[in-house]
Amino acid sequence: MTTRPLRIAVFASGSGSNFQAIVDAVRAGRLDVRIELLVCDKPNAAVVTRAQQADVPVHTFRPKEYASRQDYEREIVTHLQEKQVDLIVLAGYMRILTEVLVEAYWGRMINIHPSLLPSFPGLHAVRQALDHGVKITGVTVHVVDGGLDSGPILAQRALSIEPDDTEDTLSSRIHAIEHDLYPQVIDDIAAGRIDLTQLSNKRTG
Ligand code: GRF
Repeated sequence: MTTRPLRIAVFASGSGSNFQAIVDAVRAGRLDVRIELLVCDKPNAAVVTRAQQADVPVHTFRPKEYASRQDYEREIVTHLQEKQVDLIVLAGYMRILTEVLVEAYWGRMINIHPSLLPSFPGLHAVRQALDHGVKITGVTVHVVDGGLDSGPILAQRALSIEPDDTEDTLSSRIHAIEHDLYPQVIDDIAAGRIDLTQLSNKRTG
């Protein structure tokens, strides 16, 4: 993808425990990237405080203040280009993307989802898995193609659902897996062990 350290922007809307895991992995030397920016649509979200504490620049915005989604995404793309961001890492970013962001970062945007896709896309994936009574669920990291939690799958990890699991207990085991898996996949991309250009070349639409 590039010879210099990969420059990433993390997009998040809430607690940001995955953002924190990425920051911690960089600090620990397990992940060789530069975190150029946190993008957050909720200025009061906990992830913003985490970014400030980690000295990561933050771009927050309030979607309601824009006439359209495209308008705030155009502003975001400008920031990303200014900072020469190579890869967008979605980590609990709770907004539907438009073609503005998807086209600008085609093949250079990844997401983490708390299920074994293609099972249980969309909101409340952990609850969906419990409601369906599946015995195994997991975590998926995939390339973003503009669909709902669709796009080429890069990595998956499975775990068993125990009979006494609740949404809380299962979510917390899933989070622990995410915090290990996501930095690893990002490092695989940064080091060229995963080649996103191959995947993006497969584009047909
Ligand atoms: C994670 O479970 C992730 O899979 C999903 O959103 C959640 C974000 O959690 N896309 P956190 O804000 O990183 O704690």
